[in-house]
Amino acid sequence: MKKIVVLISGHGSNLQAILDATSQGKITNSQVVAVFSNKADAYGLERARLAGVDAISVQQSDFADRDAFDAALADQIDAYAPDLIILAGYMRILSSAFVQRFLGRMINIHPSLLPKYPGLNTHQRALDAGDSEHGTSVHFVTEELDGGPVILQAKVPIFDNDDASDIQDRVQEQEHRIFPLVADWFVKERLRFQDNHAWLDSTRLPSHGYASDDE
Ligand code: GAR
Repeated sequence: MKKIVVLISGHGSNLQAILDATSQGKITNSQVVAVFSNKADAYGLERARLAGVDAISVQQSDFADRDAFDAALADQIDAYAPDLIILAGYMRILSSAFVQRFLGRMINIHPSLLPKYPGLNTHQRALDAGDSEHGTSVHFVTEELDGGPVILQAKVPIFDNDDASDIQDRVQEQEHRIFPLVADWFVKERLRFQDNHAWLDSTRLPSHGYASDDE
């Protein structure tokens, strides 16, 4: 049985998709063993409890600085000996030591077609730019913010009269499909991080991830 730890900061709809996929066997032979949040009131913690999973809140205010917080969090994560660490709406910048400790077994979902729109407010930025499509990316976490190798993207259209929340809803529907799929690839050992690239089976994935039409 592979062990998954999930980090969240908020609503936890992606966490729910991961929890459902593990209980339905769509993420093969795996269980979520713990959920950590940097926000005590994150609804995702309640989702974890309802699923019978350890739900742990870690507060920045209890630590002197980011490095101390991340070191304590990393120790608590390691106590669960996870095979995979999933960042599902975890809205904190990670220290270099934290990234290095889990390099190659930590994935994130970001609501844009990376490398477009790293950072915040991605839906509004796509709208403001007049884009006709937007989307989401699952990627390995490296020290570059939202810059690690992309594994899989999903695109959504932007329609006239959309506002940012319409686009967010459309993007999240796709996130709930692709994030469990990528987790399944990882726990089945089809997916790995090597030479700063994502590899699926024996293929080095192109810069926009699996099944994209770039090199
Ligand atoms: C997701 O849409 C995810 O892409 C985004 O936060 C949302 C969390 O929703 N992540 C980031 O912006 C990370 N840079 P959820 O709590 O309902 O899963």
